[in-house]
Amino acid sequence: MSEVTLTIDSQKVTAEEGISILKAAQGVGIDIPTLCYHEKLAPHGACRLCTVEITKGPQSRLVTACVYTVEEGLKVDTESEPVIRIRRMLLELMLATSPGVKMIQDYATRYGITKTRFDIEPNFCILCGLCVRYCNEVKGKNAIGFVGRGTERQVIFFPDIAAEECPKCGECFSLCPTGVLPSNYALARLPHFTYDNIRL
Ligand code: FES
Repeated sequence: MSEVTLTIDSQKVTAEEGISILKAAQGVGIDIPTLCYHEKLAPHGACRLCTVEITKGPQSRLVTACVYTVEEGLKVDTESEPVIRIRRMLLELMLATSPGVKMIQDYATRYGITKTRFDIEPNFCILCGLCVRYCNEVKGKNAIGFVGRGTERQVIFFPDIAAEECPKCGECFSLCPTGVLPSNYALARLPHFTYDNIRL
């Protein structure tokens, strides 16, 4: 297995070629915030909370650490000023859309955000996709998925498919960081329930 050497927060790190910056950082105890990452799933790059700054030669840019893979000689800053700025902005947005989510509140506290400037109608699903991806990638089922685009995007149980395919393993709601999935899932267990599009 080939290895590469890079620098993460001024620390020389040797990492297996092909792994993500996030995994390399975690391997040496550097904590990068994540919301949509799960080690059993392909990276999704949805929340962008894992943003870090990379420098190759004279150029620096921001990338998502869960998606971007390690490279020889790469310099990574996980808490640089531009990184903190973008995380703070993302957290303000998330606080507006999902004000009651503990994980977001905790990250907001970590980055000194106490209130949000954004006036957006709250929608407690943060579209991290953990439930959808776990159902698809790990369970091999399509009981739950995304529909719509942009501000209309949402997660639903697909009525007919879910009735047949949902294994009722409960993994999707145990992964949901907002806690909104369990109540809807509980509804799905009622005898008269037909899986008609539940908006999460
Ligand atoms: S954890 Fe990397 S984009 Fe969400």
